[in-house]
Amino acid sequence: MLSPAQSLHLEALAAKARAHQPITLLCVCLGNICRSPLAKALLQHHANARGLAPVLTIDSCGTGSWHVGADADPRTHLIAAKHAVVLSHVARQVDEHEDHRFDLILPMDQRNLADLLDLGLPAERTMLFRRFDPSCAALPDHKIDVPDPYYGAHDGFQTVFDMLDAATQGLFDRLYTDKARQ
Ligand code: 4NP
Repeated sequence: MLSPAQSLHLEALAAKARAHQPITLLCVCLGNICRSPLAKALLQHHANARGLAPVLTIDSCGTGSWHVGADADPRTHLIAAKHAVVLSHVARQVDEHEDHRFDLILPMDQRNLADLLDLGLPAERTMLFRRFDPSCAALPDHKIDVPDPYYGAHDGFQTVFDMLDAATQGLFDRLYTDKARQ
């Protein structure tokens, strides 16, 4: 569930979005080579389709440092290409100043969320990515993680893609239309 402070922040952000002011979004996972690069690519893909690209800045990063400077995982590229989603990537690690750069910080799972809060990032603008999928609206946080596909089979990437796609559409509906109120 969103806290009252998070709901207020989203209301203010939606007002900004509807006034065509620039919005900045940051997707966060653990390694920054699977889930968050794909989330960024999907957000950019749908932003382009909705004509929102000029007013959106979208980035991704990881809480871990293992893959800093690396390209996305080959399986991330494969699933993006399969769906004609453009993806280019250089991994980077999160830092404690992201809140000066981003309006909304979108961790993929509860572990990422806890790590971001430990780093001192503000809770009111840090929200689980799937919180924006309307089909997750009634589910508690522990049921809406985007599962880490890194050690799993290929079909894990399709599952992740579908989850991210639904949440992306829900986020843009929430910010830019009257649909999907929470
Ligand atoms: P991601 O997946 O957080 O979705 O990028 C992972 C990638 C690499 C590792 C863990 C998760 N790793 O431990 O190297």
